Amino acid sequence: MAKQRKVLVTGGCGFIGSNFIQLVAETRPSWRVVNLDVLTYAGNLKNLSGIGENAAYRFVKGDICDQALVSSLFDQERIDTVVHFAAESHVDRSIVGPDAFIRTNILGTFTLLEAARSWWLAGDKVQAEPLFLHVSTDEVFGSLGESGYFSETTAYDPRSPYSASKASSDHLAASYFHTYGLPVMITNCSNNYGPYQFPEKLIPLIFNNARNGKELPVYGDGKNIRDWLYVTDHCQAIIEVLDKGSSGRSYNIGGNNEKTNIEVVTLICEMLDAKIGPLPDGQSRTSLITYVTDRLGHDRRYAIDSTRLKEEIGWQPSVTFEQGIEMTIDWYLANLDWLETVIDGSYQDYYKQMYA
Ligand code: NAD
Ligand code: TYD
Repeated sequence: MAKQRKVLVTGGCGFIGSNFIQLVAETRPSWRVVNLDVLTYAGNLKNLSGIGENAAYRFVKGDICDQALVSSLFDQERIDTVVHFAAESHVDRSIVGPDAFIRTNILGTFTLLEAARSWWLAGDKVQAEPLFLHVSTDEVFGSLGESGYFSETTAYDPRSPYSASKASSDHLAASYFHTYGLPVMITNCSNNYGPYQFPEKLIPLIFNNARNGKELPVYGDGKNIRDWLYVTDHCQAIIEVLDKGSSGRSYNIGGNNEKTNIEVVTLICEMLDAKIGPLPDGQSRTSLITYVTDRLGHDRRYAIDSTRLKEEIGWQPSVTFEQGIEMTIDWYLANLDWLETVIDGSYQDYYKQMYA
């Protein structure tokens, strides 16, 4: 039987965190989940409106950099598992303003590790088999040429302030295992897509602009490659790593779906044309594609080798990109009200009323 857990999820109101909490509620209903999220622009309480009444779930509005708060949660809830998603996550924002990335991604992770260390490793408070799962990215490995894959032994070579801050947090997490014996695991995943993704990232941004007949900005020559991972497949992998992973180990999670950006943008346009009809002038939405100035330091290609995860944990992705992108487009079309409140900013009024 799967272990009972008292899980501190950080950043659970963001894109991946909210999908994770929903999947846990469906598949591991006996787990206690405490969601610590400060509700930046990327955090949306409505992502979890379905499970708000669940007795096994508690939301705490707060900052992972707040040592006193984080320590009190370990104490009050007798946390035995941390799944650490909270981060500043958008590369473009890190290029124009790295400060928040350094603070949350590095200092925030350090604060959590310290709280876990003093709670779990301090004498009579020791929990049976505690686990700290640090969620990270393949971007820590840098950029690939036309061939090759990132494996768990690839040398770190981060190239944006975002990926440098995540690399730093990975090193801190690994150091707490080696130095103090804190039971840490790290997962490095590729680009996620699916329901509840904030429309600053490529797929929801293109969806939203394409449906509104707006320009579709493609950076550089559009031939940069990402390895797309459906968010529920990622969340399932995390649950399986919690069940079967080994402390001190890292696991790469990839979707096996390498696509150029222009392929992704074209597919979204074609699917939208088929589902809601072409533009009012009869043209395909592909006519909205506009090549724009490239991102500074734009990594060319990411691709993940998930052999370790397949062989040691038994996980593999359940959907192809073509299936996943259709599910994603259908979800956004069915949830345009969610998208509208995110675009016009009114999603923040909802929690401002609750936490005024
Ligand atoms: P997101 O930006 O959608 O959500 C981040 C969440 O963290 C938000 O709810 C936000 O309010 C919260 N948060 C930010 N700063 C905080 C702080 N100081 N204290 C408490 N909460 C805070 O991010 P996401 O796309 O869901 O990514 C989750 C994790 O997965 C991140 O660590 C990210 O680096 C990693 N990751 C994401 C992707 C991807 O494609 N989205 C790929 C690889 C790795
Ligand atoms: P993004 O979704 O920001 O994820 P990441 O930078 O973490 O990979 O971008 C995915 C790819 O799409 C990346 O190569 C940059 C590109 N891109 C565009 O071409 N246009 C856009 O408007 C955005 C947001 C991204």
